[in-house]
Amino acid sequence: MPMDDHAHAQVPVTEPPSTAAVQVRGLVKSFGSGETTVTVLKSIDLDVYFGELLLLVGESGGGKTTLLSAIAGILDIDAGTLDVLGASLTEMPPNARTRFRGQRMGFIFQQFNLLPSLTAAENVAIPLLIHGLQKKEALSRGRLMLERVGLGDRTEFLPRNLSGGQQQRVAVARALVNDPQLLVCDEPTAALDGPNGQKIMELIRDVGRAPDRCVIVVTHDSRVFQFGDRMAELTDGRIVGIHPIQKEAMA
Ligand SMILES: Nc1ncnc2c1ncn2[C@@H]1O[C@H](COP(=O)(O)OP(=O)(O)O)[C@@H](O)[C@H]1O
Ligand SMILES: [Mg+2]
Repeated sequence: MPMDDHAHAQVPVTEPPSTAAVQVRGLVKSFGSGETTVTVLKSIDLDVYFGELLLLVGESGGGKTTLLSAIAGILDIDAGTLDVLGASLTEMPPNARTRFRGQRMGFIFQQFNLLPSLTAAENVAIPLLIHGLQKKEALSRGRLMLERVGLGDRTEFLPRNLSGGQQQRVAVARALVNDPQLLVCDEPTAALDGPNGQKIMELIRDVGRAPDRCVIVVTHDSRVFQFGDRMAELTDGRIVGIHPIQKEAMA
């Protein structure tokens, strides 16, 4: 912006500071006990802002999945604080945390975690049924969501009759069907070919672009980088760097 634009402004031309949707402070997590204790997260500080898609990268075994699970409230932590969507996860009793997660977050895991005896549409409808929606309405919204991920012709298939990539798209549809404010994705394109990966990332990014939402994506896939706003690197149990993504450099 040219400098003298500022002169015409009634108020200082500064963006209002984005509010943190996720605020992690001093997070420590170990596995095992005694001499076999391994401290995977040594002291994590991280802010994720509303309206952004944050990429989380780092070496395999470095603790990325562990950090996502902690942010999702699935994993108990040893020390530190976790504030998510305006609530303190660390102070919430376990059943309130489970309810909070179901209502406000969506997850896409490395393993698809689909229920094998349910059709694609039924799998996608699960979060809606948990919310008390009638089965017919839940299934019809499930089918619509499947259309959005390109599986409109597979809604009544069982997972075992879908390819790995199609199963991943069912998992994505299930994570999005609840319209979550925080979407957490663990290597969401790992099983997808180029065009399908692109489609899924566009969907995921659109959720994050809303001003009252945010997305965290763990990935190794350099094709995913262009969809991120910032990239954080997790090394040796700490966030060692966090920087904006230069979109121009990535045509
Ligand atoms: N439930 C668990 N019990 C014991 N060790 C675990 C458990 N979950 C993860 N770990 C260990 O924590 C480390 C980080 O794992 P993970 O978070 O899956 O890394 P990443 O996702 O970055 O590959 C690994 O050494 C892994 O073996
Ligand atoms: Mg992992």
